Amino acid sequence: MSRARTYLDWNATAPLRREARAAMVAALDVVGNPSSPHAEGRRARAIVEDAREHVAALVGAKPAEVVFTSGGTEGNNAVLAAGWDAILVAGIEHDSVLVPARNSRSQLIEMPVDSDGVVRRDGLLAAMPQVSGRRALLTLQMANNETGVLQSVADLARIAREHGLAVHSDAVQAGGRLALDVAELGVDYLTLSAHKLGGPKGVGALIIRGEASLPPLVSGGGQERRRRAGTENVAAIAGFGAAAEAAHRGRGCPARSRPHAGCAGAARAAGGAGAHDHAARRDCRRERGSPAQHDDRGAARRQRRDAGHRA
Ligand SMILES: Cc1ncc(COP(=O)(O)O)c(C=O)c1O
Repeated sequence: MSRARTYLDWNATAPLRREARAAMVAALDVVGNPSSPHAEGRRARAIVEDAREHVAALVGAKPAEVVFTSGGTEGNNAVLAAGWDAILVAGIEHDSVLVPARNSRSQLIEMPVDSDGVVRRDGLLAAMPQVSGRRALLTLQMANNETGVLQSVADLARIAREHGLAVHSDAVQAGGRLALDVAELGVDYLTLSAHKLGGPKGVGALIIRGEASLPPLVSGGGQERRRRAGTENVAAIAGFGAAAEAAHRGRGCPARSRPHAGCAGAARAAGGAGAHDHAARRDCRRERGSPAQHDDRGAARRQRRDAGHRA
C-alpha cells in the first residue's frame, strides 16, 4: 500500500514557487555575464537588477542596499566576521551566526534569554557599559528556525542604536513570511535566504543599510558594488527575485497553508513585542484573513463540496 507524503518542513526549505521556477528556466538561456558591457551582458544585468528591486521591496530597502550572496549562511558570516570589538549574541541564534561569532576575535557577550526563548531587554541594557565607546554589534534573529519564537527586534535595536551599537538581524525564517521593513526595524544589516520563501537554494541577500559598511567576506572582482565578489548566479537570483515578488504580493503565502506558528504562538511567547512585531502580526492576519473569515471560507468550501463542486 502506497502512502501519499505531505511535505511540511518549510523551515528547512520551502517548496519552489511556480514563478521562481519559470524565472530561473528563462534566465538559464541568457548567456551574458552581468559585468559585460555588450548586449548579452546587459540582458543578464537587467535580470539581476530586476530581482534586486523585488528583494528590496520585500523588506522596505533600497535596491542599492541589497547584496546577493550564496544564502543565509554567507550573509550571517559576512556580518559576524567583520572584526567587531564585541558581539552581543544569544544562544538561541542559528549556527551560521554562533559559529562565526565564536571563531572571531571579538569579545562575545551572551544575551540572556527568558523561559519563552525571548532575548531579555534588561540583559541588553545591563551589557551597555561594557561596550561603551567600542565597535560593537548586536545580532538578534527575527524568528527561530526550531520554535518559531519572534524576537522584539525593533525594540532591542532601538536601545542598541541609542548606545552606538550596530545591529544585525538574521531574518532568514521571517523573510516572505512576515511583513518586514528595515527602516521600522532599525537594523543596519539583515540576512535573507531564498529557499525559505519559495526561491531556489544557494542564494540569498544581505541588506546593508545606508551608511553601514562591511568588509567583503568574498573578495576579488568588483561585483555587488565591491561588497561581494564573484560572477552572480543569474538564474538563482532570478528565481529569488520572482519568489520575493510573489511573497510580497501574498501569492501562495506560506502563512496560508501553514499553522499560524510564526504569528500566534511565537508572538505570545514574545510577550512585550515591539511595534514592528504588532505590525507583522497584523499583516500576517491580513494575509491569512481573520479567524472569522477563515471559518466563513471553510463553510463556503464545505457548501460547494456538498453541492458537488470542486472546492
Ligand atoms: C535562522 C536561520 N538562519 C540562517 C540559515 C542559513 O540559511 P541558508 O540555508 O540559506 O544558508 C537558516 C537555515 O536553516 C536558518 O534557519
